[in-house]
Amino acid sequence: MEMRVVELQIEDVAFGGKGVGRAEGKVVFVPFTIDGERIAARITREKKHFAEAQLDQVLDASAHRAQPECPYFGRCGGCSYQHISYEHQLELKQRQVDQLLRRIGRFNDARVQQIVASPKSYGYRNRVTVHVENGVIGYYRRDVHQLIDVEVCPIAGPAVNRALAELRARHPRAGHYTLRASPGRRVFEQTNDEVADALAHFIASFLPAQQHLLVDAYCGAGFFAKKLLDRFERVVGIEWDRYAVAAAQQTATAKETYIAGDVDAILAGQLAGADFATTAVIVDPPGTGLTGATRRILLAHPVGTLIYVSCNPATLARDLADLRQRFTIKSVLPLDMFPQTAEIECAVHLVPTDSAQASILRQRSSA
Ligand SMILES: C[S@@+](CC[C@H](N)C(=O)[O-])C[C@H]1O[C@@H](n2cnc3c(N)ncnc32)[C@H](O)[C@@H]1O
Repeated sequence: MEMRVVELQIEDVAFGGKGVGRAEGKVVFVPFTIDGERIAARITREKKHFAEAQLDQVLDASAHRAQPECPYFGRCGGCSYQHISYEHQLELKQRQVDQLLRRIGRFNDARVQQIVASPKSYGYRNRVTVHVENGVIGYYRRDVHQLIDVEVCPIAGPAVNRALAELRARHPRAGHYTLRASPGRRVFEQTNDEVADALAHFIASFLPAQQHLLVDAYCGAGFFAKKLLDRFERVVGIEWDRYAVAAAQQTATAKETYIAGDVDAILAGQLAGADFATTAVIVDPPGTGLTGATRRILLAHPVGTLIYVSCNPATLARDLADLRQRFTIKSVLPLDMFPQTAEIECAVHLVPTDSAQASILRQRSSA
């Protein structure tokens, strides 16, 4: 089938990584392009309100165009931005967070802080998961469910790449293998150590002095709870992965409690009777964001500090629009945890609105 070729001016790069242009009034999404570029693209899928296209030729390249470091870039499903200078990747992510908050969250006044850059734009991953099928060892392609043989992954650190070389030399059986810079860890862990430390540091700076209780919801192995221990008299972690809870408990002090179970079922009980003024809650949910049930629990318990750590600004914007009924956003901090990919991490600092605080005081005085 002959595919239609169109010439486009790329106006923006949308969250997810595709360049956005317009042909005959219709929005066209083209991966591997940059705002400001003039390109030729082949339409691959045409819908009523938008079309998808494949880059054919860059006619007028952006000054931000960069040479990808990875031989598999463009085919591999992992990275979307190696063709863009790191500086411009940061600008795009910053803008995407702002746009999603406006579009999905209807925030016209969200104060999005300057994005935190990753000290390493390559070689930052402390672990990767590779797949093995019919002797092919690597990652899945971006377009089809097919493995690409990968000898080196430039966004992974040297120790991870050594582990990959060792795995390849062993001719492993079919399956999935997680390769780590420091072997032995088996549970959810932050992927970019430097940016994760910066994230924990920012969270600490959001906390007032003299705090009593921290509830770390979706705590994994307690990364935040353990870093913030000295700021609280008591910390409670909630996580449904039993291995992660066991790992958190292994190094737990008397102040720490980790509960294995669903946040929806456990959070309200942990906040019942708490002094909200000296209580902080951190939520760090998976990309799907918070459930309606968890949002309702948070709205019913307007704690003094609520910190929402998000790996998906689209679900974050949806959830913040709901939490706004009783919380005010103090700041939104994007962090570039995953350079070269389209992923964006954010930390949001929320405090109860004045009316939420007043209604709590009323409840207390009438109790
Ligand atoms: C983005 S990770 C956060 C990990 C942790 N905060 C850290 O920094 O290492 C999300 C975690 O939530 C857990 N999880 C997902 N849904 C959950 C639920 N409904 N109840 C409890 N834990 C859940 C996952 O097992 C995963 O460990």
